[in-house]
Amino acid sequence: MSQAFDVAVEVANQAGEELLRWWDRLEEKDVRSKSANRDLVTAADLAAEKIIFQRLQKAFPEDGFLGEETGARNLDAEHVWIVDPLDGTNNFVHQLPIFAVSVARVSRGVPTVGVVHLPLLRETFTAQRGQGACRNGTAIQVSATTQLANAMLATGFPYRRHLLEDNNLENFNRLFLQQRGVRRMGSAACDLAYVACGRLDAYWELHLSPYDVAAGGLLVKEAGGVVDTIVPGGDWISGANLLAGPSQLAESLRTELRKGRGNDYPSLGDR
Ligand code: IPD
Ligand code: CA
Ligand code: CA
Repeated sequence: MSQAFDVAVEVANQAGEELLRWWDRLEEKDVRSKSANRDLVTAADLAAEKIIFQRLQKAFPEDGFLGEETGARNLDAEHVWIVDPLDGTNNFVHQLPIFAVSVARVSRGVPTVGVVHLPLLRETFTAQRGQGACRNGTAIQVSATTQLANAMLATGFPYRRHLLEDNNLENFNRLFLQQRGVRRMGSAACDLAYVACGRLDAYWELHLSPYDVAAGGLLVKEAGGVVDTIVPGGDWISGANLLAGPSQLAESLRTELRKGRGNDYPSLGDR
């Protein structure tokens, strides 16, 4: 295991412990909205990101950093850490237990380390490029499902849905009757981790950001799945739009998603 991998797991766990200190204890003064009134940030997000940032700075002073709450530093560095200290803030505020710490190291644009840690559910999903993916240390794989009719899918909807024409509702409607079920977990990192271990068969979403998807995307790839933009070959790490799943199912999902907007999908994430 590389030092970067060890530190990524360490900081994800430390941030998770910090989130658990705040869990169930947030007061009104600890929560505020950012853009839309559904786009929240809490004292827990900020405290957890601070812990991650300080530890990564100390261990890898040359590396860049992109954190949801801290912003971007030194993005031209060879290695850049992409961090969401609390993915699923709305769940957290509403005391729904699905929320994650997401930590990725991206080297010259390619994710090489990914950790998605769900503190309350006590699960840590990890991957290193070329070395497979694990859940709590045990190897995982994407599901063997090939047909949409048998698939448990997941998706999500952007906070700015009231302003966006492509707010994913049309896709949701089109797929509504074609799959076994569709879930809205409320954490993109969790969605991707669950695709990586086969609990969910496939996932798609639009208007995300790199910190939502960088770690989880590596998990899916290392678990044998496909992660791509809806129009093939784009920059999925941008989070602008992506689909993930076992290859045959991902292609069926892609076909359905392109029935609505064809090539007309966002090319930049919500950075
Ligand atoms: C959000 C979650 C959610 C997705 C949102 C993201 P946050 O991240 O990943 O599942 O649908 O669009 O912004 O705000 O909880 O870190
Ligand atoms: Ca997020
Ligand atoms: Ca977040």
